[in-house]
Amino acid sequence: MDDTSSVLLIAVFASGTGSNTKKIIEHFKDHDWIKIALVVSNKPDAGVLKIAEDAQIPSLIIEKEHFFRGNAYVDELLNRKIGFIVLAGFLWKLPIQLIRAYPGKIINIHPALLPKHGGKGMYGHFVHEAVIKAREKQSGISIHYVDEQYDHGKVIFQAKCTVEKTDTAEILADKIHALEHAHFAPVIELAAQNIVKR
Ligand code: GRF
Repeated sequence: MDDTSSVLLIAVFASGTGSNTKKIIEHFKDHDWIKIALVVSNKPDAGVLKIAEDAQIPSLIIEKEHFFRGNAYVDELLNRKIGFIVLAGFLWKLPIQLIRAYPGKIINIHPALLPKHGGKGMYGHFVHEAVIKAREKQSGISIHYVDEQYDHGKVIFQAKCTVEKTDTAEILADKIHALEHAHFAPVIELAAQNIVKR
């Protein structure tokens, strides 16, 4: 990775334990032209920060006021030459400045089959509980571009799993995590290819 101009630098935004971030970091560890260059979190005690530290990836803890009423860290990201943003369990809605600074260059993963079971407040176990309550026979993951509405942009990829009548939210969460861990990094690679037109 000597020629830094041909390397796409990705920032992963995450608020939680970061199991997806870990998989993403592992997937791109020795990649030719994609580098996970930054982990961004709104929670100073998020598990994902330890994952970044262990992998020797710089992290940035963001502060609410600056994110929503400042410039949403756009300057910081551009200064670090971040070219693509991945939301992997990031719980704040992105401010418009950030979406405009990265048009078609931000993707999110949602733990259900959008357009069902998405939107404000639909994250983590709330999603799985809603899926079970609705007696869905299937759930899955959706990877989509990010626009100004929660869980709304164009879907790039979905994968499905069966919801058994006996499934609890915890059992379903495990199935969904397995799908996320298998598919997210390869789909990031595809989306990145589209923006750099390789
Ligand atoms: C994932 O289930 C993802 O779909 C959701 O947040 C969760 C993050 O999990 N948006 P982890 O922190 O990567 O384990």
